[in-house]
Amino acid sequence: MPIGTDINHAAELLRKGEVVAIPTETVYGLAANAYNEAAVLKIFQAKQRPAFDPLIVHVHSLEQVQEVVSFQRLRRADTYRPTPAETTVTKRTLRGDDDTRKEAEALMAKFWPGPLTLVLPKSDRVPDLVTSGLDTVAVRMPAHPMALELLRSLDFPLAAPSANPFGYVSPTTAQHVADQLGEKIPYILDGGPCTVGVESTIIGWESDAEQWVLYRPGGTPVSEIEAVIGTVGQAKKSVLPASPGTLESHYAPRKPVFIGDVKSLLKEHTGQRTAVIAFTEKHEAWRTEVLSPKGNIAEAARRLFAALRSLDASEANVILAEIFPQEGLGAAINDRLRRASAKRS
Ligand code: TXA
Ligand code: MG
Repeated sequence: MPIGTDINHAAELLRKGEVVAIPTETVYGLAANAYNEAAVLKIFQAKQRPAFDPLIVHVHSLEQVQEVVSFQRLRRADTYRPTPAETTVTKRTLRGDDDTRKEAEALMAKFWPGPLTLVLPKSDRVPDLVTSGLDTVAVRMPAHPMALELLRSLDFPLAAPSANPFGYVSPTTAQHVADQLGEKIPYILDGGPCTVGVESTIIGWESDAEQWVLYRPGGTPVSEIEAVIGTVGQAKKSVLPASPGTLESHYAPRKPVFIGDVKSLLKEHTGQRTAVIAFTEKHEAWRTEVLSPKGNIAEAARRLFAALRSLDASEANVILAEIFPQEGLGAAINDRLRRASAKRS
């Protein structure tokens, strides 16, 4: 099994245009040189990911952000100058040229390295394959020492989606990656179990609407982001066909998943081998995975995907999940469970 802790070996493979699974604080990623289209193509092939679903570019520094993001293009969008009449009535006219860039930089300063991905205008250096032809790029700096050391040893950023077959639950250990992609990739860099356990929060600047919008709740609570930049809007589904928000069925085990009031769900599934994902307490079910007996929502998030995988691999017929408290990482947990429970066509 190609699992190890050799950062130099991982770097060598990436320089040669290979893909390598890497640890991050959120979930494991399947990485390739973001500037090398042939290498990036291997990510799509290994994951069987449709080409319309763009990748996140991982960087190690604010200097590297400048390579992949075009703040000039942001400025051009921002240099809209209102007439004096408009100035008095609309909020947008109060924005200066550089406000969006400054907000992006404030978010990077506060949350990076960490589980926040920003969608910003892309530079010409980023191949269209990475962004699925969009003129924006998703970028983040992961908070995992091995990922950062690896990134610093390379002279290119890493495009990396979660290291799971498309549509399945994301991996939070090296073994999860090996179980599903082990045969298809030359190396898995083992950085231990992920400490956050759900994917990054994704927000982006939408120049038409002149606002920041949420594409995916995740490891950084939106309330903390709003404390820095003010209200974050909801992404319109139609604006972004490739966004995870429109892929209703995602992060999904093979077994049917239902989310809601577990007592009623258990009644509905009487006679079946029921497996339950619960926050703090066991249920009268065939099996229950209690994610955090002490009621710690971050611990629950950290354990969610491993629990889903283990129940999916069990003899259960059906997986039932509680609705978690919506605060903190609870929003991300509920989002993933809801999507795991969406009907697949
Ligand atoms: O925590 C994470 O974000 C993990 C680790 C590996 O960094 N990565 C991850 O990647 O979850 P992935 O590919 O599984 O999910 C990234 C999502 C995609 O569903 C894609 O639709 C969205 O990010 N995305 C990428 N580029 C985008 C863009 N330009 N505009 C809007 N959404 C974008
Ligand atoms: Mg994914």
